Amino acid sequence: MSGSTVLIVDDEQTLARSAKAFLADHGYEAEVATSGETALELLEKLQPDVVFADVRLPGMSGIDLLKRIREFDPVLPVIMLTAYGSIEGAVEAVKLGAFDYVKKPVDLEELKLLADRARENRLLKQELSYYRRRATRDVGFATMVGESPAVRGVLERARQIAALEDTPPVLLTGETGTGKGILAHAIHAAGPRALKPFIEVNCTALPATLMEAELFGYERGAFTDAKESKPGLVEAAEGGFLFLDEIGDVDLSVQGKLLRAIEDRTVRRVGSVRERKVDVRIVAATNRDLEREASRERFRRDLYFRLAVIVLVMPPLRERGEDVLLLTDHFLRVLNAKYGKTVREISAPAREQLLSYPWPGNVRELSHVIERAVLWSRGPTLDVEHLSLTSPDHDAAPTHRSSSGDAEAGAAAPALPPQGVDLGQWEKAMIERAMREAAGNQTKAAQRLGISRDTLRYRLKKFGLHS
Ligand SMILES: Nc1ncnc2c1ncn2[C@@H]1O[C@H](COP(=O)(O)OP(=O)(O)OP(=O)(O)O)[C@@H](O)[C@H]1O
Ligand SMILES: [Mg+2]
Repeated sequence: MSGSTVLIVDDEQTLARSAKAFLADHGYEAEVATSGETALELLEKLQPDVVFADVRLPGMSGIDLLKRIREFDPVLPVIMLTAYGSIEGAVEAVKLGAFDYVKKPVDLEELKLLADRARENRLLKQELSYYRRRATRDVGFATMVGESPAVRGVLERARQIAALEDTPPVLLTGETGTGKGILAHAIHAAGPRALKPFIEVNCTALPATLMEAELFGYERGAFTDAKESKPGLVEAAEGGFLFLDEIGDVDLSVQGKLLRAIEDRTVRRVGSVRERKVDVRIVAATNRDLEREASRERFRRDLYFRLAVIVLVMPPLRERGEDVLLLTDHFLRVLNAKYGKTVREISAPAREQLLSYPWPGNVRELSHVIERAVLWSRGPTLDVEHLSLTSPDHDAAPTHRSSSGDAEAGAAAPALPPQGVDLGQWEKAMIERAMREAAGNQTKAAQRLGISRDTLRYRLKKFGLHS
């Protein structure tokens, strides 16, 4: 770990000092700043590889500091330190691009591990080593489980597209958790650009002005804090792929610039007059209906048409038949290895339930369910009580089986395990899970739970899940 520099921004002197000493013992050069303002001054001189910043600082808040750092440097990992009760701030920070967060009181060992991980992650982003690329290439489509006709069709076309050196942008659509992200990676890893960068941009995470600077870069002096020129992510993807995840969330003002970049294959940094040529393949993903968004003028029509030349639609898991069992086997293998368990078989009733459940969260939800089941398992058999699914037609007539997509599916009663349930605990768990899956976004989580945002807030408070 030698040669790496860490900047710790905290007004709590004891913590800052002990963290500094501990990190120094482990080969890091560590510096302390007691306010966001001083940290910003130190940044240029210090060129740290990792920054730890308290969410609550005197003067400029940790979140504001993070935003300012993001303007300087889109890849410098920033890890937030949060006191009890400021978790919400930490979640916001992660959405704004913080690498991670640590709860106080801080465990120094954890701090060091995070620093290692952040540093490694940054190195990877910067130089994407050949062997690592090779490894992902081999896994490419091989990690994508699925034999159903719907999925085969998509994968077949994706392979065709992947094999080409260049194509128009590719748009991946499909419900949440259907595998758009993993498909984008596979297209990259299986093609001639596999050794070139794959740059992923989550378009939801950033406000328009930051998004523009992030994507297209900026010139020194373009705005107050632009002390150095910086290439954007489009330029960083040179020769490789730019993956625009959640493209439906890109602000209208940025959409026009994006369209120009795609059509002319050039970018213009903020504050610059120079057009720079770029050679980048674009993959975009969304779980929204972009055509409808376009007809409502929430998405630019011209950009939509540009993106809709090659569309791959990932089918929902409930329409993939026995794929759910193949995927279950796949996740069992992975998770057995992870937790040192040996769950090998699926009981007949569990199989039946896996096949009939509507999977609103699709493959992601399945992977979570199997993870929980593996954790709870004692023997070699996966059974219904390990799944604890809300099954619409468990115990019901088989004719109901195909009705999974309709509105009634979510309204069905859960299958009660023989030992009964603790309803309060169950509710709390569902809420926690919805919040986690929505990355802390209350509106999204409330939607998933079918309740209003106010109701969600109330319950978060009630269960102490909220500061
Ligand atoms: N065919 C598959 N084989 C194995 N794992 C899969 C497959 N499809 C999805 N997964 C896994 O399921 C999870 C969700 O997939 P992914 O993140 O790609 O979905 P997504 O469509 O991008 O979701 P969102 O719209 O919420 O971003 C990931 O952990 C992914 O690895
Ligand atoms: Mg995704």
